[in-house]
Amino acid sequence: MRVLLLGGAGFIGLHLARRLVSDGHQVTIVDDFSRGRDDADLDRLRGEPAVRVVSADLTAPDTWATLPSGWDQIYLLAAVVGVRNVEQDPARVVRTNTLVALHLLDWVAPGERVFFASTSEVYAGGVTAGWVPVPTPESVPTTISDITAPRFAYAASKLLGEAAFLHTARARGFDTVVGRFHNVYGPRMGADHVIPEMSLRALRGVDPFPVPGADQYRAFCHVDDAVEAMLRLMANPAAAGQIVHIGNDREETNIGDLAKLVLTVAGVSPVIEAAPAPPGSVARRCPDLSLLRALTGYEPAVSLEQGVRSTFSWYREHGGR
Ligand SMILES: NC(=O)c1ccc[n+]([C@@H]2O[C@H](COP(=O)([O-])OP(=O)(O)OC[C@H]3O[C@@H](n4cnc5c(N)ncnc54)[C@H](O)[C@@H]3O)[C@@H](O)[C@H]2O)c1
Repeated sequence: MRVLLLGGAGFIGLHLARRLVSDGHQVTIVDDFSRGRDDADLDRLRGEPAVRVVSADLTAPDTWATLPSGWDQIYLLAAVVGVRNVEQDPARVVRTNTLVALHLLDWVAPGERVFFASTSEVYAGGVTAGWVPVPTPESVPTTISDITAPRFAYAASKLLGEAAFLHTARARGFDTVVGRFHNVYGPRMGADHVIPEMSLRALRGVDPFPVPGADQYRAFCHVDDAVEAMLRLMANPAAAGQIVHIGNDREETNIGDLAKLVLTVAGVSPVIEAAPAPPGSVARRCPDLSLLRALTGYEPAVSLEQGVRSTFSWYREHGGR
């Protein structure tokens, strides 16, 4: 297949690119490197004859005019993500995430197949309000509980993308799958997310060791599992036009226990200090994966302990970058 990865130098994108190349496909990565890194991992991939890397801003109309067409699969991963980015500059989140999605919609050709990367944040307001069950299926109402809070700029941009892709695909004759990721983690995901952030603090020997939101529950999904789910969904015509939750529902953990696991893996034993959760984060998040399983037969394969070990090792080997 010829596969286009928009935002392909980022965390999920690079893992997906590696898997596609090892499966024998041709991959073009487009990224502006605002968050994705032009590092040794990307360089190794760039050395493959099947890989092309384009450095370009997908909010710019000129970028789209230069991209070739005729793709078997297109993955839209490019977005401004991460609580810190959203809190610091919500306007950039709205602008980038919306423009990239709308440019792709104007550009995609009939017959092509697009994966739109969305998020569990689109229904998080309903979890906090108590009207959304956990584990959460796709059918629950999406809820922006406070549009004036910067955090919701991200959810709003993804909700707009979901609606735009689902309805435009129907009208314009291309296929689309909306995948809502739930706490995907793994090597090379930056320093902002909880597992890398704890790993880096453990490597620095931080003691006492604050654990924000220690009593909150999450179900973490290793990136290899997320990639497997994406590929299976994109290979199944029955997934077209559907919103599908992607994650790992097998090992919900509270953040306090996650901290203990990271510290055990790191071989350190600082004093753990429970701290308040970041404002607006849900008390519990876990996807209902019935639809994903029914469509693809997917089962998560990487245990939390295996995943934390491999992620910790990566951050140790890369000197805490
Ligand atoms: N990682 C998760 O747990 C998670 C959870 C929910 C949703 N998602 C979604 O999945 C997608 C991938 O997430 P990720 O964790 O790999 O994030 P990431 O930040 O690592 O990857 C996004 C990539 O998009 C690129 N990008 C941003 N703006 C761009 C622009 N204007 N032009 C070109 N490239 C641009 C960045 O440089 C980055 O490499 C995102 O859309 C995100 O919203 C991820």
